[in-house]
Amino acid sequence: MPRAAGAARIEWADGNMPVLRSIRERFAAERPLEGLTVGACLHVTAETGVLARTLAAGGAHVVLCAANPLTTQDDVAGALAEAVVHGRRGDDPAAGVREVVAARPDIVLDDGADLLSILHDAPLIGGAEETITGLVRVRRLDLAFPVLAVNEARTERLFNDHYGTGQSTLDGILRATNLLLAGRAVVVLGFGWTGMGVARRARGAGAHVIVCEVDPLRALDARMEGFEVMPALEAATRGEVFITVTGCRDVLTARHFARMRDGAVLANAGHFDVEICLADLGPGEEVLPLVSRHPQPDGRELNLLAAGRVVNLAAGEGHPAGVMDMSFANQALAVEHLTLNRGRLSPGIHPVPEDIDREVARLKLASLGVTIDSLTEEQRRYLGAWRP
Ligand code: ADE
Repeated sequence: MPRAAGAARIEWADGNMPVLRSIRERFAAERPLEGLTVGACLHVTAETGVLARTLAAGGAHVVLCAANPLTTQDDVAGALAEAVVHGRRGDDPAAGVREVVAARPDIVLDDGADLLSILHDAPLIGGAEETITGLVRVRRLDLAFPVLAVNEARTERLFNDHYGTGQSTLDGILRATNLLLAGRAVVVLGFGWTGMGVARRARGAGAHVIVCEVDPLRALDARMEGFEVMPALEAATRGEVFITVTGCRDVLTARHFARMRDGAVLANAGHFDVEICLADLGPGEEVLPLVSRHPQPDGRELNLLAAGRVVNLAAGEGHPAGVMDMSFANQALAVEHLTLNRGRLSPGIHPVPEDIDREVARLKLASLGVTIDSLTEEQRRYLGAWRP
């Protein structure tokens, strides 16, 4: 794809990322990252390009590789002047990770912990992790430096996991299949922040949504929201489209495939391609780009999207720029925070400081032209006055 298309895509994303733009303007004036190398393993999209621009404006040398073999937008990778980009769509991400490690980064930004799992005991200033799945891994590492849990910032979680994955998962499925969602039985497996977003958006599109969940509180939450809740084996007989969003492996296996109706569509919105058991599904034939048809022993055929990889990025463009604006604003401010507090933060996982979260929300509201009230002095005193 031509470089000009990539440049246009980055410009378009930039126009929809006002929070990051205002941070970039400040970074360009203050240069807080002067002389640092930031190594990033992210999905190489137009929105990531805008983050790279922002870090570069702050003085950083940015080295970027892909967090997934199918999510690099090659036109963006070719057009991105503000970062050294390793790898193209379809390449083994491990090779790119090795290049970023070889660049000896001072700070790493991860989406799935591929860099942190290698560099966790290196003498880095710090790191930041973008995803729930990545944080599960980082929590098991013996860290020699601070890592900010960007995924747990309120501005990240609400926007990325809920609105971002909710909309972009359906977008990826629709781009690949052009299915009508209205009136269709859609089974969402997992009702965490992301599954909740997918379920709500699918319902908004007119689908009949069935939720499968192993956590009783989340299952109850889904039921209270009006979704049908049932075990996956039961849902297997009912669904027409199945979307896994659990972060766990073997969510859909031979036992489920054996009960599904002919022509069912299977998609995964989790980070890794382990949620739909590909070995159980058996070999398939590509019938449309990113749609493979898998014959089953009794003659039924099941349709798998994007080889079971994260469908919103592999079949679509991932979260919209308006969503990545929030998460990458957190990332940019996390890099600045780690730099300003170099040597002062203990090794291990840290929450994103509350004032960064609030600043991101404040900038987003400002970009939307929304103003809000603040507490009066009396109200503040009232709230702080109660004593046992
Ligand atoms: N993760 C999900 N959507 C993304 C996007 N558009 N860019 C980078 N990382 C993402």
